[in-house]
Amino acid sequence: MCGIVGYIGKNASIPFLLNGLKRLEYRGYDSVGLAVHDGSKIQINKTAGRIAALQDLTNRHPLSGCLGIGHTRWATHGEPNSINAHPHTGNKNMLAIVHNGIIENFDLLKKELSAKGHTFKSDTDSEILAHLFEENMNNGFDLVEAVRQGLNLVKGTYGLAVICDHHPDMFIAARLGSPMVIGHGNGENYIASDAAPFIGYTKDVTYLDDGEIAVVKNDSVTVKTIDDQVVNKSIHIIDTDLKQIEKEGYSHYMLKEIMEQPQTLRNTTRGRLLLEEGTAKLGGLENDIESLLYSRRIIITACGTSWHAALLGEYMLEELVGIPVEVEYASEFRYRNPILGDDTTVIAISQSGETADTLAAIREARRKRSKVFGICNVVGSSIARETDAGVYLHAGPEIGVASTKAFTSQVTVLTLITLLLGRIRSISTAQGRDLAQNLQAIPQHVETVLKNRKQIEQIAKEFQNVKNFLYLGRGYNFPVALEGALKLKEISYIHAEGYPAAEMKHGPIALIDENMPVVVIAIKDNTYDKIISNIEEVKARKGRVIAIANEGDTEIANKADKVIYVPHSREMFSPLLTIIPLQLLAYYIAINRNCDVDQPRNLAKSVTVE
Ligand code: AGP
Ligand code: GLU
Repeated sequence: MCGIVGYIGKNASIPFLLNGLKRLEYRGYDSVGLAVHDGSKIQINKTAGRIAALQDLTNRHPLSGCLGIGHTRWATHGEPNSINAHPHTGNKNMLAIVHNGIIENFDLLKKELSAKGHTFKSDTDSEILAHLFEENMNNGFDLVEAVRQGLNLVKGTYGLAVICDHHPDMFIAARLGSPMVIGHGNGENYIASDAAPFIGYTKDVTYLDDGEIAVVKNDSVTVKTIDDQVVNKSIHIIDTDLKQIEKEGYSHYMLKEIMEQPQTLRNTTRGRLLLEEGTAKLGGLENDIESLLYSRRIIITACGTSWHAALLGEYMLEELVGIPVEVEYASEFRYRNPILGDDTTVIAISQSGETADTLAAIREARRKRSKVFGICNVVGSSIARETDAGVYLHAGPEIGVASTKAFTSQVTVLTLITLLLGRIRSISTAQGRDLAQNLQAIPQHVETVLKNRKQIEQIAKEFQNVKNFLYLGRGYNFPVALEGALKLKEISYIHAEGYPAAEMKHGPIALIDENMPVVVIAIKDNTYDKIISNIEEVKARKGRVIAIANEGDTEIANKADKVIYVPHSREMFSPLLTIIPLQLLAYYIAINRNCDVDQPRNLAKSVTVE
């Protein structure tokens, strides 16, 4: 977790570094820093707080130089203060490093280096790297060899950048478990944790793989493995433009991303939905479709919001394809001894494609000979590259820490996979056409829900001061209840729980009184009558009910305190509509409570540490 940037070229490095850090701020934002080589020595500015604080500091203490590295941190070891902020140096100011990841054996290495006279300034695990490389240089190794030898001693994960005062002409980048991308410019080169900082500078990028070390100069990039083997890397072209990563007039990325959903859903299905044949076409799966079709079982693994999408995948695939599906938290799966093999296919879902737990889960699955498919948003991300095949979301960059448009695109991709497999195994042409047409209509229905946002804003005002929320849903809308609750707690810091509605009577009902609002997703599906009974049970205990219901449902208006209507759809697609008011409710409540919705406390966008 954290963002790294680096620049070498003929121009001042500061504009690229600060702008790049701003674009990576979603990855971590508790402290921030820069190290710039001015041609003879390294100078560092670092501070607790966000990029704006670093910008202020740099206005007061300007740094100049055409070589520099920067870091925006999400602390794992040591509190977020200016001493623990990166860059870190060794005993002398000879080297500066920025690090993303965790050095697991830092205690041991610290003891060894302390015995050799190294004095540590911070509480971070990362600082050890600067001392380790410095020690190797003191022992006569050149910079590249000092880094390579040092990294061979390290256990854990790193995305890393290093500059050295003896070398105004280069920096080093390395990767093991945390992403690192190189941007190729004209007479200048860059690195970053993802490609966002390169937009407007270059479209040509190289993704470092685990165990690789790059030496970056203004006119060359050479990559070797940690075992000193030269690697010929290919250059990829990125197609993201500046507009996609700007707020475009919205006050927050989260709101922009919620409002974008009609378009992102169209992008996710574009060219993939075959209305006439009633099926889907997914280029990324074409060559490997058999392994999915003939699997004895499918395991879907993910974390957080992506895990909620996975639950919906389970419901759809079991209902329409008839293959047993299990959904696993990647963080649990990786440490169990799951039963896997070539009769099981694993699908990993990840917006960022960089979540450490999900990556580890897919590695475990591949080790055990299962085929692994990925559903990712970020093109070229680690999960996208490490899976056997996969499908991209095409939802565009998601910058708000709370995932919104990625969720609806993930669910849509799972629907497309269901349609594709279902049409081969069991669904008739007529049923396939019906599903395809209904999926095609979803973006338009999402537009209808979004038009109603003033009502949701109003409801948010009435509920902004409560301490707890319960979210209930059944069937396809149970995962939506979980996701609605997660959105609220992430950005408003109100305690919220999602439950299958029928489970309420087995425990949570004890919590209900006049202070406990209950959001009930009560669309007209085959459990509608049951959920109406659940609403009665809440009302009998003076709970306040906010219902998400289908347009035209007048009955519910007599029972619930508030009703937010969404258009009708096939039950399977209803989560794509019912989640929208819950995203907006969380957003408006958080705004009213003056919370930073794009960068909520303690969170980071992609969790690249365990
Ligand atoms: C979503 O709002 C969260 N911030 C978080 O739960 C997220 O979904 C989770 O960390 C998984 O991320 P990924 O999809 O990038 O793997
Ligand atoms: N483990 C390092 C620290 O706590 C790096 C964390 C990060 O990836 O931001 O400083």
